[in-house]
Amino acid sequence: MRSGFFKTGVILLLISTMFTGCGRHDNPEETVAESATPEADVHNNELIKVGFAQVGHESDWRIAATESAMETFSEKNGFDLLYVDANNDPDMQMGAVRSFIEQKVDYIVIDPIVTKGWNSIMKEAKKAGIPVFIIDRMIDCDEDLYVAWFGSDFVAEGEAAGAWLEAYLNDKGRGNDNIDIAVIAGTEGSSAQIGRSKGFDRYIDSKPNWNKLDETDGEFTKNGGRRVMDEYIKKYDNIDVVVCQNDNEAWGAMEALKSVGKKYGEEGTVIISFDAVYDGLSDVLEGNINADFECNPLSAPYVADAIRKLDRGEQVTKKINYIDEACFQHEDNIKSIVVNGHTMDMITVTWDVLLERAY
Ligand code: AHR
Repeated sequence: MRSGFFKTGVILLLISTMFTGCGRHDNPEETVAESATPEADVHNNELIKVGFAQVGHESDWRIAATESAMETFSEKNGFDLLYVDANNDPDMQMGAVRSFIEQKVDYIVIDPIVTKGWNSIMKEAKKAGIPVFIIDRMIDCDEDLYVAWFGSDFVAEGEAAGAWLEAYLNDKGRGNDNIDIAVIAGTEGSSAQIGRSKGFDRYIDSKPNWNKLDETDGEFTKNGGRRVMDEYIKKYDNIDVVVCQNDNEAWGAMEALKSVGKKYGEEGTVIISFDAVYDGLSDVLEGNINADFECNPLSAPYVADAIRKLDRGEQVTKKINYIDEACFQHEDNIKSIVVNGHTMDMITVTWDVLLERAY
């Protein structure tokens, strides 16, 4: 825990802090009193100690998210980062959070591998007076146990994929054909997997001519995508569409299809993907992936802003914060889709689009 200006006054306040936007201050009066002397914070020059429990390093998206967090919570930005890569192991991740609590960090940031099992550790953090932020994936727990969440609307991403596929098939004159769809899912029990499956299933359920052949966990990895696609190729004679819940799985699926001489993308089996990282969009540009739905990995800067606000004694009032995301396609045939009542433009990937990519 930092010492100096905050040491005595705020630590006492922490005990009763409710993390409902007041952060380390339990009433607005104290907030005003502290923000009246902002120079004290600047002069004591203490680093803010943040413990970040990351999912792992399973995908290119994850690497981009980690790099962004490292850069955001760097010493030059005023942070002392304790970083743990949980290697996709929920027990290890919860152990990391427990160790952050023991080390009395100032703030905890969690990108939860799975949604379940967090309640008691979140209560421990609250009891210790440490504000917790959740990023990217979500957890199932009482809302008053964390300050705020910043991440993607995974259900909307899944729905966008369904809406695009419907428009694409109509455009190809295949709107009434029987369409066999195989899904390579992300890590089972993660909110990214749950949301994308739920959103896409809404379309499957509403279309009698769409048949979901299978949905198997590919763990958001290229190897997982390859393994699952190898199984699907053996099991099913015909697959019209493969929905891969991230770009790494799509690369594994393409490798499997290529190994048996099957064409994909613009020339064969339709490939839908999520994330839209640089290499994923390159495949969209080349027509290997037909459509890719963005998942933005840059949530750490939003958390850093919120931490600075709390530190200045300001409030963080919004609990759930969705980051804006875009939809990409290879062919310039679908202008827009409607997701949840909102019209979203379909961006056709060109070299210019690719060169603007930040991750
Ligand atoms: O939680 C976000 C998902 O996790 C991304 O789609 C995937 O690439 C990552 O590993």
